[in-house]
Order: sequence, then C-alpha cells, then structure tokens
Amino acid sequence: MKAEACTYVIFGATGNLSRIKLMPALYHLDVENLLPEGTKILAIGRRDWDQQQWQAEVREMLQAKARNGLDETVYKRFCQRLYFHQGDLKQAESYTGLAETLHDSKKYPQNKAFYLAISPADFGGTIERLSDVGLLQEEAGWSRVIIEKPFGYDLQSAQALQRRIGHYLREEQIYRIDHYLGKGTVQNLLVFRFANTMLEPLWNRNFIDHIQITHSEELGIGSRAQYYDSSGAMRDMLQSHLMQLMTLVTMEPPASMEAEALRDEKVKVLKSIRPIVKEAVNAYAFRAQYAGGNINGEKVNGYLQETGVPQNSVTETYAALKLYIDNWRWKNVPIYLRTGKRMAKAQSVISICFRRPPLQFFRDTHVSCNSPNWLLLGIQPEECIRMEMTVKEPGLEMSTRITSLDASYRNHDEHHTDAYEDLLLDVLQGDRSLFLRWDEVEHAWRIVDPILQKWSEERDYIATYPAGSWGPEESRRLFDKEHQHWRYSLTPECN
Ligand code: BG6
Repeated sequence: MKAEACTYVIFGATGNLSRIKLMPALYHLDVENLLPEGTKILAIGRRDWDQQQWQAEVREMLQAKARNGLDETVYKRFCQRLYFHQGDLKQAESYTGLAETLHDSKKYPQNKAFYLAISPADFGGTIERLSDVGLLQEEAGWSRVIIEKPFGYDLQSAQALQRRIGHYLREEQIYRIDHYLGKGTVQNLLVFRFANTMLEPLWNRNFIDHIQITHSEELGIGSRAQYYDSSGAMRDMLQSHLMQLMTLVTMEPPASMEAEALRDEKVKVLKSIRPIVKEAVNAYAFRAQYAGGNINGEKVNGYLQETGVPQNSVTETYAALKLYIDNWRWKNVPIYLRTGKRMAKAQSVISICFRRPPLQFFRDTHVSCNSPNWLLLGIQPEECIRMEMTVKEPGLEMSTRITSLDASYRNHDEHHTDAYEDLLLDVLQGDRSLFLRWDEVEHAWRIVDPILQKWSEERDYIATYPAGSWGPEESRRLFDKEHQHWRYSLTPECN
C-alpha cells in the first residue's frame, strides 16, 4: 500500500504520549524516508507557543528519544513539517480556527489524520466538534481519526462512545490503536504461525496443555494515579493488549492478510470465549495490589502510598484471568492471562505448554527435571522464539536435560523499530489490519464486564503482594491441574 501525504493533527501534542512515542515515531519515519513528501504535523495545544518554541520543544523530545542521536539534517527537514496551533479542545471556537487553518491547501495536505492523544473522556466531544466544522467530511481528501485506548470504561460506556462517534465517522475512518499490534514480535506471531507448516498440526487441544500470556512490569504507576486508579490492570492491560495477543495465538488461519479477513478471525475467537458469569468470577479471575517492597535492591512504595491514590483504593495492579475458547481447536485448553505492575521482572512472554508424552520412559533417570515441551515467544524486552526439548545428557547415564531450539526474531545487528512507527505509517497507507474494529473491542468488554462488575461490588478487601515479587501465590488457584504453574523465565526452568 502506498503512503499518502497528509496533515497529522495531534491533539494532546504536548502530553506524555506525544513526547515519548508519537513525535519520536514520526521523526524516525522521516529518518527512514518513509514520510511522504509534503506531510505536515500540526500540534494542537493550549500554550501560547509560536513555531520556534514548538520546534525547540520537539528538539528536546527527540534528543531524548532519537535512536542513534539526533540527525541534524533530518531534524531540519522534520522541522519544516512542524506547525503549532493554539486551541482548547473543549472550545468550539478552537475548531473553527483549526478548520480555517487547515483549509490552506497550499500549506497543508488535505488528507487529514487526527490523533487523539487526549483524555478518553474527551474523545466523543472532540470528534463531534471536528465534525461540526466539517473536518471529518472527506471532500478534498480523506479524514481519519486515531483513538488511543481505553475505548470506553466498560461494555456500556464503550457502546455509548461508539454510538456517539458513529454519528460522525464511518468505521473505515476510525483507527482504534492498540500499540501491541505494532510490535514487530507480535506481528511475527502471524508469520511464525502461518508461514510454517510444521506447527499447524500441533496447534490445538490434542497437543497443547495450556497457554500463558504474561506481561509484567517493574515500574509502578508513576504519575498516572488519576487514570490508573479508575482503570486498574484488568482494563489497562488485560482487556486490551493481552486479549489481542490471545486472539493472534489462537485464531484460525484467515482467508488473507487483509484487514477484514484478519479481524473477522480475531472476532471469532472473542465470540467463542466461554462466558464467565458473575457468580463464578473467583474461579476465573484473580486480582491483587502491590505493597511496598524492593525493586532491584531499591525500596519502593506500595500502591496506596503512591501520590494521588486514595487510601481505601482496591484497584488491582495485578490481574490474572483464565479463559476457555469453546471451539473445535481449543475446547478445554485453559488460556491464562496475567499482568502486574511492580513485579520481579519486566517482560512480555507467551508461553505455550505442550502435553506430556503418553508414557514417560525417562522419568526415573531424569536427574534434572521432568518438564513438558514449552514454546516460548518473548515479545519484550527479550525477543525470541524458543522451543524447549528434552535431550539426553552426554555421559554414560541415561539422564536428560532441556535444550532450546532457537528461532529468534531479530539478529543483534538489526535495529528495533517502535510499535508507533509502524502504526502511524499504516494510517498514511489506509491499512487498518493492525487496528481494532469495533466488534473486537465490544466482545473484549463483554468477556471482562462481569468480572469488573463483581470486583466493583467487593470494595473491602484486595490481596496484596510485595513489590518486586511475582504476585501472590493464591493466584495459583486459577490453575486447572496440579502440574500447571506460572512460567517465569525464558530459560529452561529446571536444569
Ligand atoms: C499501556 C498501559 O497501554 O501499555 C501502561 O496503559 C503499560 O500501563 C503499557 O505500562 C505497556 O506497554 P509497553 O509497550 O511498555 O509494554
């Protein structure tokens, strides 16, 4: 697909996301010569800044984030793309001014991508006001709107938001971003599954015992108490990123890699999830909150001591969930999703545990351990694909050990690109395959809604775990079978 020049209009341009991700991603696209000629970036902000002040601000952002240091030649070219428009996104007049500004087709390409890097509470109003001044009508070029997560707070609010923006936008104009889909290692999942024949016969309930998807962070909530306390781990990570990873691991082969074909298959998975009724929530979901502890030898506060967190908060910073996909391929294979802040190690890993051989001949002589085959897909920071196999240990005894077959994603000399680069380019190309369709979001909410409801009613207790640990032992109660346990590491666990 060809990228077309457009005006990227960024709401929330002086905010954290723009600073850390969006501006650096656009700059890196320019470094790679991937921004079509004439592309402009118009930042909207309340500050009374002129062009020079904004450019100086961007310079600072890039100096902190440019991959190989700031390239002055590229920066000069990039600067010529940058404009600043003063406006308050809550004021109708700001939009009239914006429409007049953007009307200047000599300066601004008439294709427009509006990036809403703003508070979710403002998504609906901003879209409404953009429409009021005619900026969403596609007369002189296309208009696309990129919406950050969270899309809604629960099923009902997501549906209300969708109804509201559906008045002004066709589904094809909406780019609901889930930055996990922009990660190279996540896209590699599709290639790994559908470009190799040897996996497909094994990829089902006959060979796979269970699947675990873990995202753990060492970081706490930083300065995001206001957002995080009303969100929690289930909404922040599980309903969105981890659920998306799950669909990619478990979906059927799509008819093609076109956006609709791909998203149809993802939706089928979400629709096949066995509903969790409110009365059974405890058997399927577990939540906890970090207490004070140690991260890399440094003392850190508990969640309740973080600035801005209410003293009686029972917001979960750790959530684990067991799901079943009731279809032919996955019937009765548990899928465990788990995420937490302030945990022992920062990593995102998909761990697939295969069934044990029907007869275990080597158990008695097996000095190291009796481990099944695991396939480990490291998303970050370690990017890898590793199949653990049992082999004989050299020597006279018939003892065994675990070795890993490595099909790693990236060589050390190949550079890493950020998820946002990929996704921002896709917008210019009109490629929606890595963005969420409304029904994906809706079904993901349907799955977690009963859990969120139940948790919101239980306001007097939440389990805790020390910062720097792997979360409470009690979360083991989600496992179906005695031999199942959380997988922590990307190296063989028992040699
Ligand atoms: C964001 C969440 O969507 O994803 C954050 O709001 C989380 O709480 C982040 O830390 C994780 O993303 P990544 O790319 O750093 O793994």
